[in-house]
Amino acid sequence: MTAGASPEALIDQLTIDEQVSLLAGVDFWHTASVDRLRIPAMRVSDGPVGARGTRYDGPASLAVPCSTALAATWDPDLVERVGHVLGRETLAKGASVLLAPTVNLHRTPVGGRNFECMSEDPYLTSRIAVAYIRGLQSEGVASCIKHFVGNDTEFERMSIDSQIDERTLRELYLVPFEAAVKEAGVLAVMTGYNRINGPFAADSEPMLRGVLRGEWGFDGLVMSDWFGLHSTVEALAAGADLEMPGPTRFRGQALLDAVGRGDVTAEQVRGAALNVLTLMDRVGALASEGPGPELTRDAPDDRALIRLAGASGMVLLRNVSDESGTKTLPLTRDGVRRVAVLGPNAALGQIMGGGSAHVTPTHVVHPLEAIVERLRPHGVEVAHAVGCTINRSLPQLDLRLCGPMTIDYFGDPDDLEQDDADPALTSTIGTARLKWVADPIGRSDANPEYGARISTTFTPDVSGAWSFGVESVAPARLLVDNDVVLDNAEMAIGGSFFGTGRAEVTATAALEAGRSYKLDVEIRHRRTGMGLGGVNIGAEAPYAGDRMIDAVDAAAAADLSIVIVGTNDDWESEGWDRAELDLPGRQDELIRRVAEVCPRTVVVINAGAPVAMPWAESVPAVLMAWFPGQEMGDSLADVLFGDVEPQGRLPVTFPRRLEDTPAFEHHPGRNGVAPYLERRLVGYRWYDTVGREPLFAFGHGLGYADVSITSARMLDPFTVEVDLTNTSPRAGVGVVQIYAHRDGHDGADDDADQRLSGFAKLDVPAEGSTTTVIALDPRTYQAWDVNTHAWMEVPGVHELRVGTSSREVAERLVVQMR
Ligand code: BGC
Repeated sequence: MTAGASPEALIDQLTIDEQVSLLAGVDFWHTASVDRLRIPAMRVSDGPVGARGTRYDGPASLAVPCSTALAATWDPDLVERVGHVLGRETLAKGASVLLAPTVNLHRTPVGGRNFECMSEDPYLTSRIAVAYIRGLQSEGVASCIKHFVGNDTEFERMSIDSQIDERTLRELYLVPFEAAVKEAGVLAVMTGYNRINGPFAADSEPMLRGVLRGEWGFDGLVMSDWFGLHSTVEALAAGADLEMPGPTRFRGQALLDAVGRGDVTAEQVRGAALNVLTLMDRVGALASEGPGPELTRDAPDDRALIRLAGASGMVLLRNVSDESGTKTLPLTRDGVRRVAVLGPNAALGQIMGGGSAHVTPTHVVHPLEAIVERLRPHGVEVAHAVGCTINRSLPQLDLRLCGPMTIDYFGDPDDLEQDDADPALTSTIGTARLKWVADPIGRSDANPEYGARISTTFTPDVSGAWSFGVESVAPARLLVDNDVVLDNAEMAIGGSFFGTGRAEVTATAALEAGRSYKLDVEIRHRRTGMGLGGVNIGAEAPYAGDRMIDAVDAAAAADLSIVIVGTNDDWESEGWDRAELDLPGRQDELIRRVAEVCPRTVVVINAGAPVAMPWAESVPAVLMAWFPGQEMGDSLADVLFGDVEPQGRLPVTFPRRLEDTPAFEHHPGRNGVAPYLERRLVGYRWYDTVGREPLFAFGHGLGYADVSITSARMLDPFTVEVDLTNTSPRAGVGVVQIYAHRDGHDGADDDADQRLSGFAKLDVPAEGSTTTVIALDPRTYQAWDVNTHAWMEVPGVHELRVGTSSREVAERLVVQMR
């Protein structure tokens, strides 16, 4: 057989053993090869903000805005262009499949992976996801949409049973997946870790064979989430083709035995193996020589697009005018001599959330440096103070104080005791946070033993007692000038690395500013359950003064303060939900005290999901920046200084309190079960139906220009024409939103007062107007009928609310459906 043969031609030449071998990964990121028939391995990669490649410490990747930021653009065309960037990045990492996008809904604002998901609304999520996938797949790679379905919490994440009624599933949680299959032709689907109404998602015949393949006609590949496959017989019968990662736990010999016993048919094995080959064929992997090298791309155009996308997703929540009628933002330099840039996320912006979505960015533009670059050339002084810290553990070792960092890997942890042992592999690294998902030396053992020594020089910028911290999977020691400063060998397992690592151990060392110290961290890695390894190295400078007082003093001396607050991946990450909405640490206090002494205070929130803002009324301007990707500082400065019109709109409701949120009473569940008892009343559907006031409504967002809707006409029940006008002397952007309401609802008490049914984003020229035509969701007048298990038309009077958020309605159009 020659390379390039079709899947159909190949499948029956494979022995059953070979077919079975294709049904599980061989390692974390590759499928099996069959050399006899020149079938190469295929590489998959995370997802969704970049393509990381096979190593957390491998070549850097472009990091685009997080998914909530992308959804906040309300701009499918822009997101499609971001999808192209991600496709090129996937290819640069020699991969054929990007494990993205994540389209689970924000059922609760504290979901740990919300930053990875797009919105609380299924329609907005669908539009953004379809665009993302189209862009990505048009570069010749596959999108693997995830996590199918009901994977909306990190609580008991590997086993929680999401109990979701049929109508809620159909009208909400399944919708983005359905659109991805039917409209974007998504090529792969990843099952969730969770159970869905009983069985694990990867075992769910009703979801996989029934809905996905049966009803929607999906003919691509279904893979399990990593270690999320739990059966040999049920998962294959349900339609889960590929077990990830490898080596297999449930397939291989176990599957051959099941075939031998007649519990699995040869036809089932053949069908799943054919799906693997078909995906490989569709992305050109089958005819290739196998996964290529992993490279970092230098791509100025792509970086420019990331900068634009980051800026376009930022949402101006509040922007009060002073007595002269001048709005707080955009910033002008008139009369400004001194600016205080404050807050824990100012000097070190958070560009992405944590967990498997993490990539090493090619570079990061932090907020402080970008603001300084704008102001200093004009003679404006910029002062900076952090105000407070928000790290749960010590902040990551600041690489700007380090020399080149190398890592030596040894085949045996005991080699670290030998001064003359030669490392098996040496590489340079650009991060003090490392994860190894397989053998870092590249041996075939999936659960290997190895030693690692990370070495650098550390030149403190402050004298005094520095704090160092290490959290790691395996025992680790930190040495300064060859003296052991800390050793975590005695620390119990369970506090880090998805629960497989040791919580942080800290110690201090007295260091002198300007002197270079030799810094080493040694890791003795023995076998672990999942084969996962890793280390986080933290370091914090001694702080002589009082962070809060220093920040307040800086604000008092400034004409203007920019306070950049938020979270980081200690708070927003795969692995855990947040416990509360509050900004971590003393950030609320920081904002209050700064605003007291500096009336012109702009608050920038750098987080992936809503936070509480008890101070919202006491500051004149609030900008939600999300996790905006690696160009963060420039994206932010573009919006603050008015080079880019604020045009993001909230893809999620910002509640006043966690107690006000729809799933509050039922989240996270108990006894292994998450009952979705708020049913269809998720997000604004809840606030609008039960009459609860949000802090900022879904769809809300201000511009600098004054754009408004002047009229709207129905061309037919699925097409609305809208006129917008801009009364200001600067060009503006309108984001028109159409919500559908039905009188008498669909007869059920969880039918929402209104549902997003169409939207459009458009430029409106300065002192000009424009008209747009918006096509509505074809399901605008439908509901899922639990008796016939099909969509039904809802007769009666419907109202289309044309507005600029779920709460700001400009025009109402009435539709009578028979
Ligand atoms: C995540 C997936 C991810 C996979 C591979 C899992 O922990 O849930 O989203 O694609 O790991 O890293």
